[in-house]
Amino acid sequence: MSSVIEDIMTRKIFNSRGEETLEIDIVTTAGFGRASAPAGASKGKAEVVPYPEGGVDEAIKKAEELIVPELIGMDANEQEEIDILLHEIDGTKDFRNVGGNTAFAVSLATAEAAATSYDMPLFQHLAGYLANELPYPLGNVLGGGKHALGKAPDIQEYLVIPLKAPTFSDAAKANILVHQKVGSSLKKADKTFTGGRGDEGAWAPNMKNEEALEIVVKACEEVSRELGVECRAGLDMAASTLWKQKEKCYVYTRDGIKRDSGEQLDFVLHLVEDYNLAYVEDPFHEEDYESFAELTKKVKKCLICGDDLFVTNRERLIRGIKVCAANSIIIKANQVGTLTDAWETTKMAKKTRYIPVVSHRSGETSDAHIAHLAVAFSCPVIKTGVLHGERVVKINELIRIEETLGNRAEMSIFDL
Ligand code: PGA
Ligand code: ZN
Repeated sequence: MSSVIEDIMTRKIFNSRGEETLEIDIVTTAGFGRASAPAGASKGKAEVVPYPEGGVDEAIKKAEELIVPELIGMDANEQEEIDILLHEIDGTKDFRNVGGNTAFAVSLATAEAAATSYDMPLFQHLAGYLANELPYPLGNVLGGGKHALGKAPDIQEYLVIPLKAPTFSDAAKANILVHQKVGSSLKKADKTFTGGRGDEGAWAPNMKNEEALEIVVKACEEVSRELGVECRAGLDMAASTLWKQKEKCYVYTRDGIKRDSGEQLDFVLHLVEDYNLAYVEDPFHEEDYESFAELTKKVKKCLICGDDLFVTNRERLIRGIKVCAANSIIIKANQVGTLTDAWETTKMAKKTRYIPVVSHRSGETSDAHIAHLAVAFSCPVIKTGVLHGERVVKINELIRIEETLGNRAEMSIFDL
């Protein structure tokens, strides 16, 4: 059998923020898989624990002692069995023993090792011949919050999505153009702007929250006219990072404004309506399912997406579905640990017509697996940065997937 696991290597590497992270290599009889784990800066409280006490060194020790001996001799094709085994070896609810990032890297390296054992691209190994839809890229062009310093806006991410782009390559180009136009406008608006960018390659200007949105929306409109696509703006408010539990309000330091939950709802509604937003992620803190539901009820033609709210966790998603908290969910496999867990949550989202958005994290490596997951899971949207090598590798991998699919390639059927 080509996909029998013969060897596993573990190592410590660095991510795009220079933090230590874990990389796993899996060698099968005829294949090889390598995966490394990303890291969040604005993590949800209900995510799995990324590393055991002792960090990456301890994670490597535990992987060598507890995971490697169990997996050698298994078939990499048995993804679900291996993911279940990772849970059993860990023995906790949140992977705090071996580390969620250890489970993630082993799980993804297994999938890739199985795919290469049979000379298949990962997306086809996971989803079969019929997987042919490319996602729309949702790209971060301007930002602040926990991904930048100084006087950048409080809102973490100002995003763009090029709806109606005929191909993935066209869509990627549209996002790059918006990023460039935003850069030029910022230089005009602020002579002291240094061209600084945050963790995900988005411009990090000294600017108030709504002023920044005006610039992004204007750039979207210009690119829409020039390319004949429909570029629309979105936001990741990462509101848990703005929420002060003691004062029960959202603090916008840059603007010198505090908003209680009702005022936050009015503010977000004003942004969605007046700027024709296509997407708003985490507009409220991670336990406020009720305000999420209020907003979702009131908006039209806009995705309301839960990231810290759901943390790719099926149970939290089900809780959200029951109260109609949102209509979209971020899928970050390392928030739950394994590929199988991420797929189970994605399946639940699809059944209930929540739009799944496969996503990068703010601390990334050159690992491009999320490109394959977006196609394999048939996700209409992929959230990854527009610039910086560790973001562009995901975009470039999707361009290659589009080429592999040839005339079978289609953009996802997705309209707002
Ligand atoms: P992260 O968050 O910093 O936890 O990766 C990015 C996001 O909120 O989407
Ligand atoms: Zn987010």
